Amino acid sequence: MKRSEALAQFLDVARDILSTRAEERTPPAAVAARVFEALATSVGTIVPGTLVPPPAYRHLPSALEAARAALEISPLAEAFEVLEPELRWRRRPGSEAHGKAFHEGHANADIVGPMGLEQRGDVWFGASLVAPNVRYVEHQHPPEEVYVVMGEGEWYREGDGWHTPSVGGIVYNPPNIVHAMRAGPSALLALWMLWVA
Ligand SMILES: [Fe+2]
Repeated sequence: MKRSEALAQFLDVARDILSTRAEERTPPAAVAARVFEALATSVGTIVPGTLVPPPAYRHLPSALEAARAALEISPLAEAFEVLEPELRWRRRPGSEAHGKAFHEGHANADIVGPMGLEQRGDVWFGASLVAPNVRYVEHQHPPEEVYVVMGEGEWYREGDGWHTPSVGGIVYNPPNIVHAMRAGPSALLALWMLWVA
């Protein structure tokens, strides 16, 4: 299997951005190192395709415009924009149980992972888009997680409460910690990666 040019380029840019944005010898740097080493070692099954995206997808152009304007991450925003037509956008499973605002107000796309454009089990790498003034529900999972913050918003982590990372910032969540995020007046775009293996 061979990655598309857009996917290969996106992963290259993401690796470079993570290596400058995640402080050396910190847990997020370690997660990123493992993720990109795995991605350099093998390629999963490439399954391009489209679904009808959830309604929140309409906020993607404005979120990308804001991300492109932020110097630290503009190459990543540009690479994601080129890649995005190959992705399937979906809702979080069970999102209808969290009310209409969340159900209608978020969209996730899997770049790498069991449901990704590149299907494999060891790495999950995706994007979340949150509509203005919507909170992405609290959740937790065993793999540790690194987010690249691609827009303005507030972030929650159990024990630490809410904080506001800068655009281009890195958010790290240890295994099983409860976390969430919420958009302010503009849509919030975030990239996330989980090391599962
Ligand atoms: Fe998460």
